[in-house]
Amino acid sequence: MKLWDKGVATDADILSYTARDDHRLDQALLPYDLKASKAHVRGLCRVGALDTGERDRIVEALERLEKEVAEGRFVISEDDEDGHTAIEAALVRDLGDTGKRVHLGRSRNDQVLVATRLMLRDALAELATLSGGSARAFLKLATTKGDAIVPGYTHLQRAVPQTLAHWALAYTEGFVDASRALLSARTLADKSPLGAAAGYGVNIPLDREGVAHELGFSDVDLNPLWSQTSRGLNEVIALTAVWQAMAIVRRLAWDLSLFSTSEFRFVKLPDSFTTGSSIMPNKRNPDVVELMRAACSIVQGALAELMTISALPSGYHRDLQLTKGPTLRALAEAKATLRLVPKLADNLTFDEARMKAAVTRDILATDAAVDLARAGIPFRDAYKRVAAQLGSPDEPAGEAANASIKARTSLGAPGNLGIDRLEARLSQLELELDSAIGPPHSSW
Ligand code: ARG
Repeated sequence: MKLWDKGVATDADILSYTARDDHRLDQALLPYDLKASKAHVRGLCRVGALDTGERDRIVEALERLEKEVAEGRFVISEDDEDGHTAIEAALVRDLGDTGKRVHLGRSRNDQVLVATRLMLRDALAELATLSGGSARAFLKLATTKGDAIVPGYTHLQRAVPQTLAHWALAYTEGFVDASRALLSARTLADKSPLGAAAGYGVNIPLDREGVAHELGFSDVDLNPLWSQTSRGLNEVIALTAVWQAMAIVRRLAWDLSLFSTSEFRFVKLPDSFTTGSSIMPNKRNPDVVELMRAACSIVQGALAELMTISALPSGYHRDLQLTKGPTLRALAEAKATLRLVPKLADNLTFDEARMKAAVTRDILATDAAVDLARAGIPFRDAYKRVAAQLGSPDEPAGEAANASIKARTSLGAPGNLGIDRLEARLSQLELELDSAIGPPHSSW
């Protein structure tokens, strides 16, 4: 059965060309599609478009399907064009003509929109929570192992001494910011599009706000054409926030793969994060962090796809179907990657002696120039004077490194990390995340 069948024969090649892998992708959207279908049917009854008997039979049948989905027994087949067709076909098998009434007053266009928004709401809340958890892990690292001193680098050249806490808290703050970006993107997905139908409303006075309320949306899209036109654009904003989190993971993975080389040996990766070589018995390769680094590219590729696919005139176009694949792919990659971050942070072993030995006399130069300038010498002259008598790059700075850390006391600097302020920001975020996150869903 095709929902749009008008008795004209269809070509199998063309059908599979248009359906693509919707049967696989829509499997992730099924729980959301069913939930929205129930709300739609109840709404139809409230405005007198279905009687209560029809409503109850359809809602019960949808609930049976929900159970089948949860137990893995409802699988969209390749013959079903998409998840929407599979649901309607199952309702018709179960209820006959009553099942067909579910589609009154809606289009697959607003059906896929609402399922996608419900999925995005869950996914973004979960990713925001994982990002917050990563921030928490780095805060713990800063408070437990943070006193160790290590060079800070610019251009991969030793620059100024810092502490391990200073390095770790950069990731804490980064993951807090990313979590906020994910929550902000989530507000765009938190409006109900149902009732937009094909993009121009429908000649039934639908209870759009009641349906939105039942689905837990904070608001409703007002303009049906904007609902349709937002498809792909909301996904771009969502994936931009996901990209932000992944770009932080990419830097982290870079830092760790670099600082764990024999040349640095500042940090040892947890054994479970390394693999061996098939030929070189001596190797312990950082494969896991390398794959975590590549996750950002997958999200970035998906973003590029979404941006070009959604470059369309207003209204629905079938191109938009192709926004589902990159969206789901990127979300899954980010979830798998972010889940590993706390495990990684908790199990790093730092070689404090190696780190300290790398803090050499030459990298106290900036402090020395600032000290002279404070004493009244113009900074440019102080700079030149210090440059002419640099400390040795071979001699460890010793106690002078501690003094350098302690002297840098403006807010956030290594001598005054602002750890309480950051902890307060993170705790506030965690409170907001608790109220945003719904029941755990494994379908996306
Ligand atoms: N699979 C389609 C999609 O994801 C469902 C909507 C089909 N609508 C249409 N007018 N052909 O976009």
